[in-house]
Amino acid sequence: MAGSHLNVILLGAPGAGKGTQAARICARFGLAHISTGDMFRAAVAQGTEMGLAAKECMDAGALVPDEVVIGIVRDRLGEPDAVEGFLLDGFPRTIEQAASLDALLAEAGRGVSHVLLLDVPESELVERLAGRRLCRSCGTGYHIHFQPPRAEGACDACDGELYQRDDDNERTILNRLEVYRSQTEPLADYYKQHGLLETIVGSGMSPDEVFGAIEQKVVAPL
Ligand code: AP5
Ligand code: MG
Ligand code: ZN
Repeated sequence: MAGSHLNVILLGAPGAGKGTQAARICARFGLAHISTGDMFRAAVAQGTEMGLAAKECMDAGALVPDEVVIGIVRDRLGEPDAVEGFLLDGFPRTIEQAASLDALLAEAGRGVSHVLLLDVPESELVERLAGRRLCRSCGTGYHIHFQPPRAEGACDACDGELYQRDDDNERTILNRLEVYRSQTEPLADYYKQHGLLETIVGSGMSPDEVFGAIEQKVVAPL
């Protein structure tokens, strides 16, 4: 392990709770939250060329090409807040991305300190994603059954409007799960071989209880 910062990777299937836990982990440990999905959605909202190209992949439930993703992550990891410690949410998603990440961190004398795999049975993921709602203003996530807002359609934190992601329809969800199984699941073995993998039970408990289990595992490196 290189470097003395908490540099965490959060692995898990679509709907496993990466975004839900990332908010808690970053607040607790003061890490930069780097979500490639959020970065692509921001680019879509801004109507950039990269955003338009990414949207086609996202709407199909396919991955954005490795070279595009690796480029934006490389830039983001160089920003001052990320140099002090980061949490990657939704990256890497292929062995190619993982190998590129290792190389670019090593070049800078940095390294990954923890890889947390949120383990949720596949049978629960479709329902989690189909019922997810997000705040248009502050991004807080809800679920119509599991984490309902106090007032239907409105954010508890800021009263913003709640919306559904374009890729949270059943057809796209099934593609995303298939892509996860074939392209991303092999990363668990990759990080196990590197001695970094910690598996966290991500279901049958509230998000706060899942976070309690994560807190036990994340200890600052020497
Ligand atoms: P991305 O945005 O990363 O989506 P994802 O990986 O499919 O994961 P989600 O954000 O859907 O789920 P999550 O794990 O964050 O779950 P959440 O916490 O919201 O990527 C989107 C797309 O961008 C990809 O398909 C791809 O096209 C592209 N992309 C992104 N990164 C890429 C990369 N590296 N390479 C190539 N392409 C890339 O929770 C889900 C729901 O469950 C919520 O409603 C929540 O309230 C609920 N929930 C959470 N915890 C619990 C609990 N303990 N009990 C009950 N319900 C819970
Ligand atoms: Mg997410
Ligand atoms: Zn809000």
